[in-house]
Amino acid sequence: MSKIIAIAMQKGGVGKTTTTITLAAALVEQNQHVLVIDLDPQGNLTQHAGFDPDNISPTIYDSLKAEVDGFAGDVKSAIYTSEEGFDLLPSQPELSLIELSLMNTLSREQVLTTILDDVRDAYDYILIDCSPSLGLLVINALTVADSVLIPIQAEYLAARGALMIMSTIETVRRKKLNANLEIEGILLTMADARTTLARDVEAAIIAQYGDDIHIFNPIVRRSIRFAESAAVGQSILTYEPTNPGAQAYRDVAAEILAANKGG
Ligand SMILES: Nc1ncnc2c1ncn2[C@@H]1O[C@H](COP(=O)(O)OP(=O)(O)OP(=O)(O)O)[C@@H](O)[C@H]1O
Ligand SMILES: [Mg+2]
Repeated sequence: MSKIIAIAMQKGGVGKTTTTITLAAALVEQNQHVLVIDLDPQGNLTQHAGFDPDNISPTIYDSLKAEVDGFAGDVKSAIYTSEEGFDLLPSQPELSLIELSLMNTLSREQVLTTILDDVRDAYDYILIDCSPSLGLLVINALTVADSVLIPIQAEYLAARGALMIMSTIETVRRKKLNANLEIEGILLTMADARTTLARDVEAAIIAQYGDDIHIFNPIVRRSIRFAESAAVGQSILTYEPTNPGAQAYRDVAAEILAANKGG
């Protein structure tokens, strides 16, 4: 049985894409069979994995489009293997058009669930990189997912930024789109090592959510190596394996594996 984790947060630039790809690479290091899905029309994850979102075909767009148009889309043909050993279901810019077509589609929240039916059992983990919005594509991700991982930037007022995604998760549960949707945890990212701010933010997040939600113990520190690794189409695990940021994501992967063992 696969475990599907959506990486979601409506705020932009908090580390969703970086977390998705780095976690995928860390799970591969632990001998897990992993599929990552780029559900963001920006295509950042596709690029980060070493593919060109402007020149790749077919993509998840084709699978969703076929389903919206009433055909059974062949999702397997849109899955590629990355150099780092995880599989990728890439995005392309046209994915932004799907949001509108979904509006008039039957069971519009379940289209992603349908197209993943054929492949979900082939993987240990499926990670879905969401766009910084709360549109129908994100709702599709939250509907098919077993859990949500929420990256939060370690800065003042960060805890407030999580309120919208929390309330969306609650709505998805309440409307029975996905009554069992869990929160895998909150991950603090982009912490500045030189200040005590990250610890202050961590304390605030723990005070606000810690009773109900797992807060990942590793905090991901700020490092220019993340952007550099993205530019060359690699995860930081390959680009600079000894970087503390790489180790933080290995620790996150270990926490996830331990939490899901035997489950
Ligand atoms: N720990 C980190 N330290 C420094 N830079 C980081 C870190 N994590 C991510 N970045 C960089 O910050 C930028 C935004 O990160 P990323 O693209 O992962 O965020 P995102 O939440 O996916 O953004 P969007 O909402 O636009 O999809 C990227 O340039 C990325 O390389
Ligand atoms: Mg992103």
